[in-house]
Amino acid sequence: MGLLKYKRLASWFALVMLCASAVVKAQAVNDRPGKLDRFTPGAIWTDNHGVHINAHGGGILYNKGRYYWFGEHKIEGSAGNRAMVGVHCYSSKDLYNWKDEGIALAVSPDSTNDIAKGCILERPKVVYNKKTGKYVMWFHLELRGQGYKAARTGLAISDKATGPYRFIRSYRPNAGFMPVYPPGTPESEQVDCAHTKSKSEGFFCRDLPGGQMARDMNLFVDDDGKAYHIFSAEENFTLDIAELNSDYTAHTGKFTRVYAGHQTEAPALFKHNGVYYLIGSGTTGWDPNPARCFSAPSIWGPWTYHGNPCKGAGSELTFGGQSTYVLPVAGKKDAFIFMADKWAPRNAIDGRYLWLPIVFKGDDIEINWLDNWKLEVFDKR
Ligand code: DGJ
Repeated sequence: MGLLKYKRLASWFALVMLCASAVVKAQAVNDRPGKLDRFTPGAIWTDNHGVHINAHGGGILYNKGRYYWFGEHKIEGSAGNRAMVGVHCYSSKDLYNWKDEGIALAVSPDSTNDIAKGCILERPKVVYNKKTGKYVMWFHLELRGQGYKAARTGLAISDKATGPYRFIRSYRPNAGFMPVYPPGTPESEQVDCAHTKSKSEGFFCRDLPGGQMARDMNLFVDDDGKAYHIFSAEENFTLDIAELNSDYTAHTGKFTRVYAGHQTEAPALFKHNGVYYLIGSGTTGWDPNPARCFSAPSIWGPWTYHGNPCKGAGSELTFGGQSTYVLPVAGKKDAFIFMADKWAPRNAIDGRYLWLPIVFKGDDIEINWLDNWKLEVFDKR
């Protein structure tokens, strides 16, 4: 090939690459800080400073007309999943545009502190306690340098929604307490520590004196003001739903075991028309897997398994995400948003958010992929 022909080919190639990268950028980036009018699942989602929102494994508190998004502040690189900074908070009035409210709970510079810098602090959630007027944060805590062995839950409290939150304590819940069961549960299905019937029951009985393991988690406040902590227990083989005291600052010892013997993570519980729904995932590290859904007439069960609520292309891997919260949209009927994380384990800070509307089908639900969508989808039903 002559030099001239080669040069012409090279400049064509450069032009094509430039156009292609511009198209990808336009599709993947919500680059109009303060002016977003839709959700674009999987795209960079910028805050009021034009910076990608850093609130992974998050949850939302709706309080006095404002939404507050709390999540794990990740840093760059593959070590970015360790807690080097703390829990990040954002606020919003419209759910599209988020204001950076800073770090609500900071990790401690003291290496002997439970929440020492470098620990693992995941899936923080905040609820407001009307009786005490306090904002109460619970999270999954792994002590620094111990991998995922500690499996504790942590508590922090604040007088203001945005913080600063004061770390109170961390522990394994419900030490010495046996679970409750829905009426009519045969004895053969109840835990018997004298004759354990399965691996998960073995873990339960092993942990009975010191409290149950508490990893991936969520919080739920019922219409009567009672709050519940939902968490992966028994080496993730069971989900526990546990009652909190009236201050939301401790476990009462009343809890039930859901889907015992199957590994479930990423629980998200919500209530619609008197029916309780629970969405979760399998257990494959940072890789996506099929979501799973349950429903129950009471928070204490019985919980019915419904399989994967995601439908269509990509549904077998939850569209690349893992559940983190289900958000009831204030002032809209039947409007619930499924929130998931698309993790980026090699560069944790680049994790993306998949928010999708939930569709109710009798006592079952469906989640379908949308490239982008607006809250008006809830009005058209
Ligand atoms: C999946 C969990 O859901 C996350 O919260 C996190 O613990 C990762 N596993 C760690 O591999």
